[in-house]
Amino acid sequence: MTGSNSQDKKPQEDGDGGAKKRQKKQKTGDTWQPAGPKDPFAMLEKLPEKQQQEIQRALHLFSLGPSQPKSLLQAKNHKYVFWDTQPVPKLGESYVTHGPVSEGETSVRSEPFSLPQGFFWDTLDLSSPTVLKELSTLLNENYMEQDDNTIRFDFSPDYLQWALQPPNWLIQWNCGVRVNTNNKLVGFIAAVPAGVRIYETEKPMVHVKLLCVHKKLRLKRMTPVLIRELTRRVNQQGIYQAVYTTGLVLPTPLSSCRFWHRPLNLRKLADVNFPGIRQNMNLQRALKLNRLPEVTKTPGLRLMTKEDVVGIHSLLQSHLCKFSLSPVLSSQEVEHWLLPRENVIDTYVVERDDGTLTDMVSFYSTSYKVLNHPVHTDLKAAVLFYITSATDPADLMEDVLVLAKTTGFDIFSALDVMDNMSFLKKLKFSINESSIHYYLYNWKCPTMSPDKVGLVLPN
Ligand SMILES: CC(C)(COP(=O)(O)OP(=O)(O)OC[C@H]1O[C@@H](n2cnc3c(N)ncnc32)[C@H](O)[C@@H]1OP(=O)(O)O)[C@@H](O)C(=O)NCCC(=O)NCCS
Repeated sequence: MTGSNSQDKKPQEDGDGGAKKRQKKQKTGDTWQPAGPKDPFAMLEKLPEKQQQEIQRALHLFSLGPSQPKSLLQAKNHKYVFWDTQPVPKLGESYVTHGPVSEGETSVRSEPFSLPQGFFWDTLDLSSPTVLKELSTLLNENYMEQDDNTIRFDFSPDYLQWALQPPNWLIQWNCGVRVNTNNKLVGFIAAVPAGVRIYETEKPMVHVKLLCVHKKLRLKRMTPVLIRELTRRVNQQGIYQAVYTTGLVLPTPLSSCRFWHRPLNLRKLADVNFPGIRQNMNLQRALKLNRLPEVTKTPGLRLMTKEDVVGIHSLLQSHLCKFSLSPVLSSQEVEHWLLPRENVIDTYVVERDDGTLTDMVSFYSTSYKVLNHPVHTDLKAAVLFYITSATDPADLMEDVLVLAKTTGFDIFSALDVMDNMSFLKKLKFSINESSIHYYLYNWKCPTMSPDKVGLVLPN
């Protein structure tokens, strides 16, 4: 990542200027305070939760307000005020060569990017349970899964520690924004160290994750300030590349992948109207079609233990070198990312009688809160991380579905990356309509199809 001078206008907090000044700022669309005589968010928040959801659903249906491009067609008509200033390949350009878009700057800006009056940067110390709780509150209330706000992410402190504290994590890469007057956390972005192999090049990069801006401060250009500040902090460590995924089309996707979903508890998913679950048949037929065996079939299948780290490391190394984008993992990282943690990460291995490991499969947990439902309050999704098998991966994967169902997961999701297409249809996964795009910051190279992607980036 390379820092760049801010051409984006800074967001402003309300309450510190005259009416004239405010009018002018609202014209440019760059204030943090919503326009109008009354704060519509405050009005919205006074309404009961159910009514708020109905309004959000209606807004979504009529697509009011500016929205970020989610398809290439929309992207063609979008002006990327921020991203056009960044060292990323331009949309529509393709490359046959490999290398940075811009070489590392000689000096990295030493002072933080300025925030408008009323806000301050706060590096989040996640070893403090209070801070961890504040972060999960920000994410749980603002990192929405559905536009109608009936299902929300539920990031647990354990999940956040796993996601944000791999080996060599740095505290200054947990970058928060707070409000001066009440210390409330209203913005967050993080980076974690990630060795990545892109085609033939191995690069120390960061994985950028958990970008979140409080709902009340949306569309006020806070995101560019967060990204610039994080970039500066990463550049300070001599790192100039990053990898990230999002559902938005930005300049320029390295690969565009799709999630596939496999119901485990179909009745519950249908009840809560989980996105991506097709209901083009009656429930009884669907239940029958999605039935799974009661027990697993693979001999020697068991949960990973710490003693398996070396074996798994070598299995993964030989598997992942087949792909054009893959993680370069140390054994400490294998231990961190894969050793089972309850409600966070599950990894199974297949051990032969002679003690050799032949297969491994891992999946991480994504928890949701279901709002205002008479019966259901939460939902658990398993998301496929890595799988490698000496035989047909479909057999191992079917066993994993059985294990996930037995341990209380409601749905299993997997991207169409790596060799996953070899079993997704066979095991009755169905494709989600929206895409997940992979991006590299400050790196140009040829784009790739999903089956060449060997990297999965948990939130
Ligand atoms: C993502 C989020 C921070 C964007 O905030 P916002 O208020 O809509 O956007 P802002 O006005 O602050 O900034 C807009 C700029 O940020 C860019 N941007 C928006 N979302 C982005 C993302 N996820 N990744 C990178 N850039 C993004 C936009 O493209 C735009 O730049 P452009 O003019 O070059 O197109 C906010 O919608 C949010 O917190 N969403 C919930 C959590 C989430 O979805 N996080 C992202 C997961 S990938």
